[in-house]
Amino acid sequence: MKSSIPFRLNGRPTSIDTDDSRKLLWVLRTDLGLTGAKYGCGAGICGACTVLVDGETVRSCITPVSAVRDKEVTTIEGLAHDGTLHPVQQAFLEHGGYQCGYCTPGMILTASALLSETPGASREAISARLEHNLCRCGAHTRILDAVEAVAHAQGDQSKGGKP
Ligand code: FES
Ligand code: FES
Repeated sequence: MKSSIPFRLNGRPTSIDTDDSRKLLWVLRTDLGLTGAKYGCGAGICGACTVLVDGETVRSCITPVSAVRDKEVTTIEGLAHDGTLHPVQQAFLEHGGYQCGYCTPGMILTASALLSETPGASREAISARLEHNLCRCGAHTRILDAVEAVAHAQGDQSKGGKP
């Protein structure tokens, strides 16, 4: 059924007139031109299409756009603020946490959600959370290194040290 679906996208009010069963991934990529979320498996398995909805990770390839009505959607395009990369983005750069980059937006958004929920998360917790985000390039170890570096910095901050 076609309807008007209002939501916030990367901090800005948005509204889209579309069939409310369409998947969020295609609304983002095709209708709204935000191509950071990627199409991988189309079945909720690989994590390439991950976005945040009210701060929680969501697989946009299997999520109807109607599910984000009146919610806040954050894509990789909205993670940096005022020209400053999110710490997880910066760490991916510093640790080479990517090769082709296809899995990168989903990895970064998933890691940012984890470190927001659990600052200073252990490597084991990071590994468990990213286990279902697949990297076909074999960058997984460097990805874990990058996220762990941010978690360590959060731990140092909580002890009063420098980030
Ligand atoms: S494309 Fe959505 S989980 Fe793979
Ligand atoms: S960097 Fe290529 S899929 Fe992960």
